Amino acid sequence: MMRLLLRRLRRLSAASERSFSGLPAAQVRRTFLDFFRDQHQHLLVPSAPVRPRGDPSLLFVNAGMNQFKPVLLGTVDPRSQMALWRRVANSQRCVRAGGKHNDLEDVGRDGTHHTFFEMLGSWSFGDYFKEEACRMAWSLLTEHYGIPADRLYVSYFGGDAGSGLSADRETRDIWLHLGVPASRVLPFGLKDNFWEMGDTGPCGPCTEIHYDHVGGRHAAALVNAGGAEVVEIWNLVFIQYSREPDQSLRLLPQFSVDTGMGLERLVGVLQGRRSNYDTDLFTPLLDAIHQRSRAGPYGGRMGAAPDAQVDRAYRVVADHVRTLAVCIADGVHPGMSGAELVLRRILRRAVRFCAEVLRAPPGSLASLVPTVAQTLGDAFPELFREADRIADIIDENEGHFLSSLQRGSRLIQRTCLRTGGGAFPAAAAWSLHRDLGFPLDLVDLMLEERGVQVDRQELDRLVCHDQKMRAEQQADSRPRLLLDVLSLAALQRAGVPHTDDGPKYGYHLENGRYVFPACRATVLALYDGRALVPEVGPGQRCGVILDRTCFYSEQGGQSHDRGYLMRDGLQEVLFSVEAVNRAGGYVVHQVTVPDHLRTGDQVELHLDQAHRLSCMVKHTATHVLNFALRSVLGRSVQQRGSHISADRLRFDFSVKGPLSSAQLQQVDRCVRDVISANQDVHTLEVPLRLAGAIQGLRTVDEVYPDPVRVVSLGVPVSELLDGGTDRE
Ligand code: ALA
Repeated sequence: MMRLLLRRLRRLSAASERSFSGLPAAQVRRTFLDFFRDQHQHLLVPSAPVRPRGDPSLLFVNAGMNQFKPVLLGTVDPRSQMALWRRVANSQRCVRAGGKHNDLEDVGRDGTHHTFFEMLGSWSFGDYFKEEACRMAWSLLTEHYGIPADRLYVSYFGGDAGSGLSADRETRDIWLHLGVPASRVLPFGLKDNFWEMGDTGPCGPCTEIHYDHVGGRHAAALVNAGGAEVVEIWNLVFIQYSREPDQSLRLLPQFSVDTGMGLERLVGVLQGRRSNYDTDLFTPLLDAIHQRSRAGPYGGRMGAAPDAQVDRAYRVVADHVRTLAVCIADGVHPGMSGAELVLRRILRRAVRFCAEVLRAPPGSLASLVPTVAQTLGDAFPELFREADRIADIIDENEGHFLSSLQRGSRLIQRTCLRTGGGAFPAAAAWSLHRDLGFPLDLVDLMLEERGVQVDRQELDRLVCHDQKMRAEQQADSRPRLLLDVLSLAALQRAGVPHTDDGPKYGYHLENGRYVFPACRATVLALYDGRALVPEVGPGQRCGVILDRTCFYSEQGGQSHDRGYLMRDGLQEVLFSVEAVNRAGGYVVHQVTVPDHLRTGDQVELHLDQAHRLSCMVKHTATHVLNFALRSVLGRSVQQRGSHISADRLRFDFSVKGPLSSAQLQQVDRCVRDVISANQDVHTLEVPLRLAGAIQGLRTVDEVYPDPVRVVSLGVPVSELLDGGTDRE
């Protein structure tokens, strides 16, 4: 008891000695990570790249918890490292520029919104829950960072009758118990205190900690009021539910804690700055922008005053160049769809503010990359390694847009003269967007600066029409039936063993031809899209879970197998397999059954051999292509992903600059040479630890199972394990 008291006193005195403001950002980050690792046994894990891994519901990683979604939902592959984690912490690079959490429009208007920010996060996966989470957060803020407790307010979920959710009184009582006065413990509704990752996915009530920049007063009325004086700094989410595609909430079998605190805001608080742009995360960048611009130095002005426009441009450029650098380092390049399109929009906004408001010469944006690396490289050293490539890509894209920018600005000027200050015609705004590549929000901004308005209704109609056309073109009608989290828990409770999918590699060569033997299996469970059912009847769509399978499920960028099942005693009816996916160790065969199927039935699985062979060939081809690209263009070539189906292969990679036709020919020749050499393909299951040590092993950014299947061309995998020579 005495020792505990002494330690507490020592900590308290350390906190009061430390200056409350002025802690450099790097130290703020370090203190957070050390606290969770050293005092609360959290494993520190790396930030995931900003491009979400295999989650089509997101454009960018927008919160620290994204990479842990499978753990939170209980669908994690039990063979992965992640499945073992109980307490983790990290600093995650996040982009909020599209989808549910989108701050793009607010950037520059205030001092606290960013498209890129770092989220300091801590998690408990089915380990500790509300009380410990609140206790840890309070201790870190008040004792370690030394924030005076009387500047802090906490909010909790006050319930929502419409959704049938009751108030989180447990959390309220925890705060009261920790000594927070009742007048500072405030209930809020769904909007503020029920956090959701996206339209679907993990969610739950949350409790937030807010900070009053002014102090010496009672400011409860300013919490969640949107002002700059009282700001939210830490969000502690109690993940208890999954938001389903039909918008219903399903209670999860395991509860978790997911916390997130924006580094930039916290640094602002600790350095006594209301605007994050006045902290050491941004001031070097603003100085660098000033050196290149023909505008006066950054003055921190906000609002609609004319000189505030220049400061706003400073903030936009500083924010956007950080986003550009981090995204490009992670392999998201400005482009034409999805996240790439959003990045192109960010780049064009930055180029415009640089060129027209700050009057900086071409090339200025790219020249800021080393300063971004200097301010962020501590946490993300890849920014130093990739600085040249990032600058080249920014330059190249700036070049594409600059001439359009000039034409666009002239078009706006002429149109405004013609309309004499009246409404700006929607067709002209649309043409700026469609023909000259102006992001629509940039058009809005440029018109706002001139004090003119566009015919919004007509413009929305044009946008809607365009979106509809695109959606029709891209419609993907493949049916999908994914195991939901409750059915996964039910399978586990019923003791249904994970599917043995070893037979998927049970093929052999016979007279130079691949043979894929049929596989016998027992139906262990049937899933009708909502729940496990003992039986399905004719015409019903269901997921069939077997004890074993020779079917390859959709994973690693390769399409699933096609084929059919035959039920014992009903050999003349084929149960065609439409899709195969896996969740939490179970392989689910999606079938629209032509006849009855019950658990316990015996079946025989036949896969479409031509389809599988075509996928296998293309899979090997991706490795050959990777090898050829790196041989011809150098080892800076990085695979960014691939997609393989029976009829096509797509290979994404990053490289500096465009490929010349001579280089393309060389790559082509190299690929053909490898194919003509007709070497054997060797495979071996290897513990992840050993596989990671093979020199020349190419991986993509994905969570691999342990053991992992290593494929080698020409050299047996076992030789690579002991030899250690780079065989590329
Ligand atoms: N996932 C929570 C957030 O992003 C912590 O606010």
